[in-house]
Amino acid sequence: MSEESQRRSLSESYSSTDLKDCLEREKIMALPENALILGIETSCDDTGCAIVTKSGKVISQSLKSQVSIHEKWGGVVPTLAQEAHKNAIDDCVKEALDLARCKIEDLSAVAVTVGPGLAMCLRVGVRKAQKISAMAGIPIVPVHHMEAHCLVARVKDDEKENEGGSARAEEVAKFPFVALLVSGGHNVLLKVEGVGKYTILGQTLDDAIGEAYDKTARILGLPVGGGGGPALEALAKEYEIDVLEKLREKARAEIERDDDVTDEIFEKIVQKKVKNPIKFTVPLKQRKTCDFSFAGLKTNVRMAIEKNLGTIDEQTKQFVLPSEDWDGIENREMRASIAHAFQDAAVKHLEDRVDRAIRWVKDDGLEPTCLVVAGGVAANQKIRKSLSRIAESHSIITVFPKPAWCTDNGVMVAWAGVERLNLGLCEKPVSKSSDAWIKSEHDRDCDVHLKPRWPLGDLDVRATSDVRSMKVAKISLPLSN
Ligand code: KG4
Ligand code: ZN
Repeated sequence: MSEESQRRSLSESYSSTDLKDCLEREKIMALPENALILGIETSCDDTGCAIVTKSGKVISQSLKSQVSIHEKWGGVVPTLAQEAHKNAIDDCVKEALDLARCKIEDLSAVAVTVGPGLAMCLRVGVRKAQKISAMAGIPIVPVHHMEAHCLVARVKDDEKENEGGSARAEEVAKFPFVALLVSGGHNVLLKVEGVGKYTILGQTLDDAIGEAYDKTARILGLPVGGGGGPALEALAKEYEIDVLEKLREKARAEIERDDDVTDEIFEKIVQKKVKNPIKFTVPLKQRKTCDFSFAGLKTNVRMAIEKNLGTIDEQTKQFVLPSEDWDGIENREMRASIAHAFQDAAVKHLEDRVDRAIRWVKDDGLEPTCLVVAGGVAANQKIRKSLSRIAESHSIITVFPKPAWCTDNGVMVAWAGVERLNLGLCEKPVSKSSDAWIKSEHDRDCDVHLKPRWPLGDLDVRATSDVRSMKVAKISLPLSN
């Protein structure tokens, strides 16, 4: 079989998998509303499991994070991640079952992430799913990780608070919508027309935004355990609260105020005069696409640090202060100014791209119902507020899945499984007499079709095609093909 046809057959087995030749299909479509679907996620550094009903009620969830394992290495170490998944998977599934007060035999299907992600990690989840499928005689639903991130915005969350967003608690995303997925590994804008119907409007040409937040936090000497984003956001806020107010006070004392100037006008003059001494240009401003780029911004941060604070130690990736008697306050203020300038440019970059993405979708003759923002970076309050404003300017709401469902988790996989099952899309149960099952435990994964590289959909014709991820030779065909 040629590589191309092999890739095509692999892709088809997951994208348009349906049980058309199989009596099971009717059974699957007729599952009752309270049928239980287990979801398993092991694509990166979180082992996540959850049980969701066919009608979308989240019954239980369990998550085993690996933050403490990878923290000291400054990134995810695949071999350690695989080992941690292996150690956690049985307990994670058991916890989800126990919390739901059910047994494997009570499940109607098992959904599992098959890509994209780290092959050795994906394999742990898929093997567990195969085992459960064979034991309970239930179908497997292969799930695309990014599709799961996207579709979880359609799960009703009764506890949803939606701070910073304009959506109400009961609001869930309805097709078609625009989705922005932003995390440490993903940075993509999508047109979502239905389950399996995705078009990539833009993606990053280099780093993902979360990666840029993490690296910037690291060189600013901030704590980066579990991602540097929250610490960097807090430091940027410190600039707005402390540094900016001090600069304003200084300006108020310096400006000569005429008697006829009202307080309001005076404050406007002050605000105009006071500027962050550090300013970075918004990436790709001249490029009228929905692509992203954060590498240049990262370089700008490095240069600002070297100019204003000291050189960066190549080993620790933190800056070395110019002298022992460096003024601590000034240092903190300068770091806060840099953090703020970074966030300001990054947020404006997102705003610019999201605004264009919504316009593109409207130009296609579609009326998007909402903007979905998901991924770890969606926890950022500044980003939530500014993107909600952009969506409002297009008269659409913003839907933020709750933070625990924004980062990698089992609920999103179980739910993507439900959405696929409702369309009859799944794989036959693994038979205990099948080749995959007869092989020894060690070899059993030979038949597992993992898709570590798997684009979610085709690139929009207006998008740039020379992005980093598309350069990888062994890439699977898009899910929506
Ligand atoms: O989705 P996630 O948990 O994992 C993946 O990367 O797939 O996202 C983690 C990323 C990290 O880069 C982290 O720094 C970033 O999300 N993040 C934030 C914030 N909270 C988490 N970035 C900016 N502001 C935040 N408040
Ligand atoms: Zn993810």
